[in-house]
Amino acid sequence: MGDLFWNKIFGAVLATVLVMFGIKELGHALIHPHEPEVPGYKIAVADEGGADKKDVEVAEAPSLAQLLSEASASSGERVSKKCAACHSFEKGGPNKIGPNLWGVLGSPSANHAGFSYSDAMKSFGKTWDYETLSTFLAKPKAAVPGTAMGFAGLKKPKDIANLLAYLRTLSDAPLPLPAVAQKAADVAEAVTNMAEAGVDALTDATTHVQEQVNEAAEAQQPE
Ligand code: HEC
Repeated sequence: MGDLFWNKIFGAVLATVLVMFGIKELGHALIHPHEPEVPGYKIAVADEGGADKKDVEVAEAPSLAQLLSEASASSGERVSKKCAACHSFEKGGPNKIGPNLWGVLGSPSANHAGFSYSDAMKSFGKTWDYETLSTFLAKPKAAVPGTAMGFAGLKKPKDIANLLAYLRTLSDAPLPLPAVAQKAADVAEAVTNMAEAGVDALTDATTHVQEQVNEAAEAQQPE
């Protein structure tokens, strides 16, 4: 086996290590808890030897997610006084003019035991996630036409976000904030893309090594 043979092997292995190191660095860049100035971020996965160039574009967070990330549950508790004439909030609290609201966030609509909902609410058929509840609280009669909830709505998105942050605490298993859930999904997607790029690069590197070995082996063949 000539020197050239081992040089080629060494070169191929070095290339592989460099590719892996590159992927690791990208991982660090992504996972570092570094708050972006603008919500939303862009990760460019470098084009490594034949792997498709992969850009992960993450759209700007929706404004509700932004508001929720800055919301205050204690301010929300103050907002909830506007609801207290008709709703109780404590666990196991009574239904009043409206149903008890413990655990309402994340639960199906018109689902509270012992309350007789309007037909409109019964046929609404959604889950009270952040987006749905926010739309409802802004203008109940527009979100659920025919609802029996006699409340005009909350004008300030900030009040709604604070109220949602408060409602979130009224649960044994608080609903994950949309920003957090979205970020986790984005990171999972980015990691998957990186892994794919890494597999492609490694496959290429392995093929390269194989070619070098074959070439070197051929060169060794007696003429
Ligand atoms: C004037 C009384 C009244 C006020 C004030 C009021 N609600 Fe209601 N609310 C109701 C009634 C009645 C219903 C049942 C609606 C139906 O069946 O159509 C209801 C339903 C709801 C529901 C749906 C619950 C479920 O189980 O699906 C939510 C959520 C809700 N209200 C939240 C609030 C919040 C938060 C406030 C304060 C910002 C508020 N409400 C203010 C009377 C009121």
